[in-house]
Amino acid sequence: RRLTYLQPDGTSATVEADPGHTVMRAALANNVEGIVAECGGNAMCATCHVYVDPKSDALLPPVGANEDELLDCTAAERRSGSRLSCQLPAVDGLTVRVPECQQ
Ligand code: FES
Repeated sequence: RRLTYLQPDGTSATVEADPGHTVMRAALANNVEGIVAECGGNAMCATCHVYVDPKSDALLPPVGANEDELLDCTAAERRSGSRLSCQLPAVDGLTVRVPECQQ
């Protein structure tokens, strides 16, 4: 399962995610910058915000009610591809964009 994280400065990191990891966990496990994940993956903090490429949308489960509410509280602007990375399974080939800020 390869995941790619694009950083606001134009750099990117491609990591190998463990099965069962979320996009948030895989970022923390591989020292990817810009994912804070204060609440540890409980959909309570919105500091694991990412932007998903529209092409990858179909690979992911729909936005949950909790997630939807929290996405209105992200530090960086909410856009159409906004998701909480702790709610996203590490799907092979997924690319996400890390926002400018999380807090
Ligand atoms: Fe807190 Fe995702 S880690 S909402």
